[in-house]
Amino acid sequence: MESIREKKYFKPFYSITADIINDPKFQTLKQQRHHGNELGRYAHCVRVAYYAYVIAKKMHLDSWSTARGALLHDYYFEDWRTVEHNERGFDRIRNMHAVVHPKHALKNAEKDYDLNKKEANMILRHMFPVTVTPPKYAESWIVSIVDKGVATCEFAHAIKMSWVQFRSSQIANV
Ligand SMILES: [Fe+2]
Ligand SMILES: [Fe+2]
Repeated sequence: MESIREKKYFKPFYSITADIINDPKFQTLKQQRHHGNELGRYAHCVRVAYYAYVIAKKMHLDSWSTARGALLHDYYFEDWRTVEHNERGFDRIRNMHAVVHPKHALKNAEKDYDLNKKEANMILRHMFPVTVTPPKYAESWIVSIVDKGVATCEFAHAIKMSWVQFRSSQIANV
């Protein structure tokens, strides 16, 4: 996929987000599997943050908060595939990864950074409509929508790569 570093607005984006991007803890997200990305959850967060930032900037919204809040929207460190669940019924739904990870991300982000209200809302509400409460600010809506668009592209890319790999292994075995 494309390199965000070569994008038109990378410089101003990076000037706002460099302290987070270069933080050793944030860098460990490269080791967290996420949507088949080569650089894991790190690549996903940077991609969502960059595109959300550009949209907010073009719409004359709070692009500074958008870049930082979006960067931290998936700032959690557990692998949901390895978490065991013994709950049943409604409790099982309430503890689903898709529902709980925004809360975990917000808790981690509040511990490591000073967040404003918009940034906190972007993190907590990015999974709407899976989580019932809608985003409160225009910037939070942007993050939630961009997250879904980026995730779809990442899944499609991962499927394409698996198909290419499968096809080359078939050809090699002829
Ligand atoms: Fe998420
Ligand atoms: Fe995400």
